[in-house]
Amino acid sequence: MTDSVNATLSHLSFDDFDEARDPRADEQDFDRVVAAAISRRGFLGVLAMGSGAAAMGTGTLLSAFAPSAVASSVLAASGSRFGFEPIPVATDFTVHVPDGYTWQVLASWGQPLFPDAPEFDPATGGTAESQARAFGENTDGMELFSIGGHQVLAVNHEYVNPEINLVAASKAAREAAMAAAQAGAGGETDATSVDAEVNVLPTNPEEVLKLQNAQGVTVMEVAEGPQGWSVVKDSPFNRRITQNTPMRIAGPAAGHELLGTAADPGGTKVLGTMNNCGSGRTPWGTYLTCEENFNGYFGATDAATSLPEAFARYGIGTESRYAYETFDERFDLSRNPNEPNRFGWIVEIDPSNADSTPVKRTALGRFKHENAASVLARDGRVVVYLGDDERGEFLYKYVSTNPYVPGGDTDSLLDDGQLYVAKFDDDMSGRWIALTPEATGMETADILIHSRMAGSAVGATTMDRPEWVAVNPVAVEAYCALTNNRNRGLEPNAGGDPTPAIGPNPREANDFGQIVRWYPNDDDHASEDFAWDLYVMAGNPEVFDDAYAGSENVNAGNLFNSPDGMQFDSTGLLWIQTDGDDGNEGEFAGMGNNQMLVGDPATGEIVRFLTGPKGGEVTGLTWSADRRTMFVGMQHPGGTFPDGIEGMPRSSIVAVRREDGAKLA
Ligand code: FEO
Ligand code: CA
Ligand code: CA
Repeated sequence: MTDSVNATLSHLSFDDFDEARDPRADEQDFDRVVAAAISRRGFLGVLAMGSGAAAMGTGTLLSAFAPSAVASSVLAASGSRFGFEPIPVATDFTVHVPDGYTWQVLASWGQPLFPDAPEFDPATGGTAESQARAFGENTDGMELFSIGGHQVLAVNHEYVNPEINLVAASKAAREAAMAAAQAGAGGETDATSVDAEVNVLPTNPEEVLKLQNAQGVTVMEVAEGPQGWSVVKDSPFNRRITQNTPMRIAGPAAGHELLGTAADPGGTKVLGTMNNCGSGRTPWGTYLTCEENFNGYFGATDAATSLPEAFARYGIGTESRYAYETFDERFDLSRNPNEPNRFGWIVEIDPSNADSTPVKRTALGRFKHENAASVLARDGRVVVYLGDDERGEFLYKYVSTNPYVPGGDTDSLLDDGQLYVAKFDDDMSGRWIALTPEATGMETADILIHSRMAGSAVGATTMDRPEWVAVNPVAVEAYCALTNNRNRGLEPNAGGDPTPAIGPNPREANDFGQIVRWYPNDDDHASEDFAWDLYVMAGNPEVFDDAYAGSENVNAGNLFNSPDGMQFDSTGLLWIQTDGDDGNEGEFAGMGNNQMLVGDPATGEIVRFLTGPKGGEVTGLTWSADRRTMFVGMQHPGGTFPDGIEGMPRSSIVAVRREDGAKLA
C-alpha cells in the first residue's frame, strides 16, 4: 500500500481507491511525528495509572495500557485458552493454519451455484449471464443460518477487480498499453511497469452488467460430506442478489424526495445493493448486509454537472472508478443525481426465502457502513452497532423503540427506533448522543440520509476509520476495530471536523490501528453512557520504542496492522482479521501477510491463528452449525491463489477445521 498513490486504481483494494483519489498529507517530518508519539506515551501512562480498571468496576478487563509488569504477570498466570500453537507470519501466496488444523476451499469467484449454471471458464471469466448464477467477487462479511436442518451461508461480495474479472478487456488494455509504451520508448519496455499502468475499465454494457452481477450477496446452502465442504447446488435456498435485484426502501427516509428518481419517483423501490462489506444477523434470523464504498460507482458523463454539496462529504464526484455511467445511465450523475442517495444503507435479507424482497432499512442511517452488530438490550430492545469506515468519521448505534418478542412481528424493529452517535471523552467515559431534530437542527429523514452531517452537528468523536464492531456474548461489552488513519492529527475529516490525537484515537498519522472497547453503563447496551478503554493498539515494538510500538499485548510473536473484521466465538474469544500493509518491511517489518488472530478479552493475550495469501485481505468469519468448522474469507488474494491459474487469483472462502474433528468454539 505504500506505493498506492502511484499504482493503477484497478489494482487497489477499495479502501485504497479513496486513498489514491484523496491522498494523505505529505509525509510528516520524522522528528515531529516521534515527538508527538512520545508525548502521547505520557498521556497513555496517565490512562493506565488513573481511570483504568478502577473506573470500570469489573474484573474482566485489562487495559491495554496497563503497566507492563501487570500485563506480563496476568498473561503468565492466565494459561492459554487457545488450544493451538500460534503460527509465524507468512509472505507466500497460500493459507496457513496451526498444526492439527486443515483448510480447504469452499467457494471461489465465478463458481456455479445452481445445477444449470455453467462451470467457471478461466479463459473468459464467464459472462454477465453466468456471473448472475455464480459466486461473486471479493468475498467479505458472512453469516451462517441453520434453517430446518439446512446450513445456509449468506455472504457479501464487496467490489470487483476488472483486470481479473474482465479477461478480454484486460488483455486488450494491456496490449494497447504495451504498444503505446513501445512506440514511446523505441522498443525498450518493461512489461511489469506497463501492467502497473493499465487501468482496466468495462468497454460495453455487457461488461458493466457482468461486474454488477459479481457484486451483492450470495445465499447458498453448504454441506459437509466425505470430501469436505461443498455448495449444495440444487438447494432452494440458493440465490444471487446483485446490483440489479429489486429492493424495498423502508423506514423514516423512505419516500423522501432525495430518494426519488425518474425510474422511481416515489423513492421506495431501488435496484440492487453494492459494496457489501461487513455483515450482521438479527435475533430473528435475517441477514444484514452493509453498503460501504458506494461512492466510487457514480460518475458524470457531463463533467460540468454540478453536484449537491452533500456529495463531497460522501466522496461522490464526477469521476467514477469503474465507468459504469458510460453504459448504464442509472450511475450517471448528469441524469440521475439522486441515485447515490439510494445506497449507503443497511439491507435486511431473509435467507430462508429465496423469493423474499431485500429491504433497505433507512432508520440505521446512511454512511459507509462497515458491519451491523446486533444485541438485545436488557428490556429486549434491539441495539445495532454501526461503524462508518472513513478517516475521521463516526461510530453509531441504533436502538429500536419496541422490544424483540420471539415469534412476534419483527418488520418494524429496524424501522422504528433512534440512531445515536458516539462521543468519547478523554477521561475514558463516553456517551451516545441521540441524533434528533432538536439536537441536530435537521429533519428526521435528512438526519438519516446525511448521518455524517448529523454527527458533525452534535460534535461526535472523529474516529480512526471504524471497521467491524463485535459484541461479546459472555460479557456486556463491545469492540470496534479502528483500522488506521494516516490523517489523524494532520487533517480534518471531509466535513471539516478536527481530528486531534486524543482519546481512543491517540496517535498522529496512525498507520497501525487499534481496537476500542466500551462497557455500557448498567450492563445495558441501551444505556446512553459507557466507559471505554483500548483492547489493543497495534504497532511495531521491533521498530519503535514509543506509542508506535503498540500496547503491551503486542509483541514480536503477534505483530499485525490494520485490524478490520472481528467476530466473537461462543466462548467469548475475539477473532481479529486484518486488512493492512503486507509489504513486510519498514514499519511493517515482521507483520507478513494479512492474517487472523484471536484474542482473550480477559487477559489481553493475542495470538496468530491463520495467515492469508500475499496481496489479499482476510475478511469474513462464521462457523458451521456444529461449531467444528470455521469459514474464513480470502479477499483479493495475489499470486495464483487458490487454483494456480496464471493471472487469475480468485477470492475464496476457505473452511478450516481441526484434523481430529473436534469442536472449535
Ligand atoms: Fe470494506 Fe471498511 O472495509
Ligand atoms: Ca472491512
Ligand atoms: Ca479495511
